[in-house]
Amino acid sequence: MIGDANGVSLDTLSASSNEPRFIITERLIHWSSALCFLVLLFTGSLLYFPSLAPLIGNRALIVEIHIYAGFLVLLPLLLAVIYSPSHSELRRRLSELASWSASDRAWLKHPTKASWYHGGRFNSGQKLNGAFFLSSLIAMLLSGLVMGLYIPLPLSDRQGATFLHDFGFYIMTIVFLGHLLMVIRHRGSFSQMTFPR
Ligand code: HEM
Ligand code: HEM
Repeated sequence: MIGDANGVSLDTLSASSNEPRFIITERLIHWSSALCFLVLLFTGSLLYFPSLAPLIGNRALIVEIHIYAGFLVLLPLLLAVIYSPSHSELRRRLSELASWSASDRAWLKHPTKASWYHGGRFNSGQKLNGAFFLSSLIAMLLSGLVMGLYIPLPLSDRQGATFLHDFGFYIMTIVFLGHLLMVIRHRGSFSQMTFPR
């Protein structure tokens, strides 16, 4: 599991606190968004690469699935935030991922693995990962809405939106592969995110 320079592992932290590292609602949010993201990645790749065009029988259907998955991807998180009371366990837990201490901010200026853990459930890299996925999904949603003419803008803006969407596709794919690599290297984290013992 991902730990700090002194060998304190997040496995140890969650085990000692006697509660799962991720509660069921967090896990449901994660996996439903991940599923939508995988659909977006797959259908987006079919739309983007001309060599994959023969695989698409019906391009309009692929576009439709892509857009539906796009509308759904942030919905679980949004609903959870809207419908959970402000002092709920879930809100407290979600805000942990979004709260940047002075040490986290210092890490951003000089990112090293030795200095990325400052207590709590997440190290600075994981907080950055959370911020990246959230902000880029919002950017993809907005640019996608412009491309799909849900937000009517002039042609030049639509071209800008397509450029942003394509760029986001590359960057998100790279970060997503990095995310998977971290999960493979720290196997304990997978069971924490699925069925914690
Ligand atoms: C978050 C909400 C999203 C919405 C609403 C959305 C919407 C759209 C729309 C309307 C198109 C144009 C389809 C057409 O050719 O008619 C498109 C294309 C595409 N989308 Fe998305 N999208 C979203 C997220 C994503 C994500 C997360 C990825 C991948 C990481 C992605 C990858 C792509 C790619 C590669 C294309 C093809 C672009 C091209 O042909 O230049 N999209 N999307
Ligand atoms: C389908 C492939 C995926 C797998 C196997 C996977 C697995 C995991 C695991 C095991 C964790 C816990 C890591 C830890 O110990 O903190 C995690 C955390 C997280 N995942 Fe995923 N994930 C996947 C896709 C995604 C996608 C597509 C997103 C974004 C939409 C995402 C966003 C996050 C975030 C924000 C966290 C918490 C921060 C972090 O630990 O990096 N994951 N994921």
